[in-house]
Parts: sequence; C-alpha cells; structure tokens
Amino acid sequence: MEVVIAPAEELAVLAADAVEALLRRRPQAVLGLATGSSPLKVYDELARRHEQDGLSFADARGFMLDEYVGLAADHPERYRNVIATEIAERVDWPAEQVAGPDGLAADLPAACAAYETAIADAGGVDLQILGIGTDGHIAFNEPGSSLASRTRIKTLTRQTRVDNARFFDGDVDKVPTHCLTQGLGTIMAARHLVLLATGRHKAEAVHQLVEGPISALWPATVMQMHPHATVLVDEAAASRLQ
Ligand code: F6R
Repeated sequence: MEVVIAPAEELAVLAADAVEALLRRRPQAVLGLATGSSPLKVYDELARRHEQDGLSFADARGFMLDEYVGLAADHPERYRNVIATEIAERVDWPAEQVAGPDGLAADLPAACAAYETAIADAGGVDLQILGIGTDGHIAFNEPGSSLASRTRIKTLTRQTRVDNARFFDGDVDKVPTHCLTQGLGTIMAARHLVLLATGRHKAEAVHQLVEGPISALWPATVMQMHPHATVLVDEAAASRLQ
C-alpha cells in the first residue's frame, strides 16, 4: 500500500493523473466511481482536463460503488444523479456507459446480481476511486461486512446516516436507511484502488486502514491485501499515523 500525504488540491491532481494516464493508455478503460465529498476535487480536475486538454471519456465505462435504496429517480442525492452532475455530464461520457446498482428495482437481490455480471462482462474495473467513512467503511460496507462480500443490500449505520445528513438538509431522518453496495470482494477485484481522505474526522479510519489489523470491524483494512492500492491523505487525515 502506497500512502501519499499532501494538501487536498495536490491529492486531487495525483488521482486525476492516475485516471488520465489510464485513459490515454486505454481509452476504453473501466473506471469505478465513488460519490460523497472526497472525490469532488478529482472530478473537478478531470472536467478541467477534458475542457482544456481534450481528455476524453467517450469510450470509457463507469461503475458506481453504491446507491441508496428507494430515492426517487429525480432526487438530486440519488447517486446516479450525483455522478451525472459531478462528472459524466461535465465531460464527453455517454450516459449509457455509466452504471450504478438500481436502488429502485422491484427485485433488489436480482439487481445486485445483475450489477456484478455487468462489471464482469465489462472486463472488471481498472481503477477504482474510493472515499472512506469515519467508521472505516468503503462503499457502504459498514463494520462487520464480510471481507469477501459482493454487491448486496446493506443497512446504513446510524453514524453513516448522521455523517450524510448534510446532503439531506441536515435531517438524518431524510437519509435512506438502506443501500445497494459493491462488496469488499467486488472492490478488491479492481486492478488499482485509489482512496482519498481529508480532514481530522477521518484520522482514526485512516490509522486503522494503514496500520490496524485486518478486520471486518474496520472494513477498509482489507485494502492491505490489495497488490496495488494508493492512499491519498492530507495532513489532518494522516495525523494519527505512526
Ligand atoms: C460513496 C461511498 C462512501 C464514501 C464515504 C466517505 O459512494 O462509497 O464510502 O466514500 O462515506 O464519504 P465522504 O467522501 O463524503 O466523506
């Protein structure tokens, strides 16, 4: 695991560099997309490179990490809409080439299985962008998740719903209680993992991720087993590293 400590703006540039190098080498690359605050500066930087340097997503595929269950199709916090707004529509990425688990499906387990098949059919994820929750989750694999898990329905913890209430008018009761999420096994199958974390509130999770024992109680620790994992953190998020 490679750990880089730098200011947030530089971290975004480093992550965008990795995405750009991949897309220049392999225009039909498969990108794994996170939502939340952590990747926003990366998406800004990629949109800028599209605008100014002609970086193209026209042949790329995208797979989102997760989705809330039950949010209306036009809800601005539905992750499909967030990804469309934050990256896909700012570059030349055809909407049908970016997929997410279907949180409105009538048969949610079938939608999860179909999502795994779609990722496999695309040849797997080349580069997966990740954030980390304060409780150590990646995607929505909350503490206690199987380290071998695949895409499935999960209950969000109270902590995660409180953390995400800022996207729902600060009202935790508006945050959905369930999600569909790629499993830890799904994420570990990606060929390169790039995790971003900034701020002191992430320091304990980053400490566990990098230095803790591998444990389902801190799900991100499974990344210690990955052959190509890059952890990009600012000073505050790195403040508990030894
Ligand atoms: C979002 C996701 C989550 C977030 C995590 C950190 O798709 O998978 O694991 O990455 O909750 O969220 P932020 O970046 O908002 O602190």
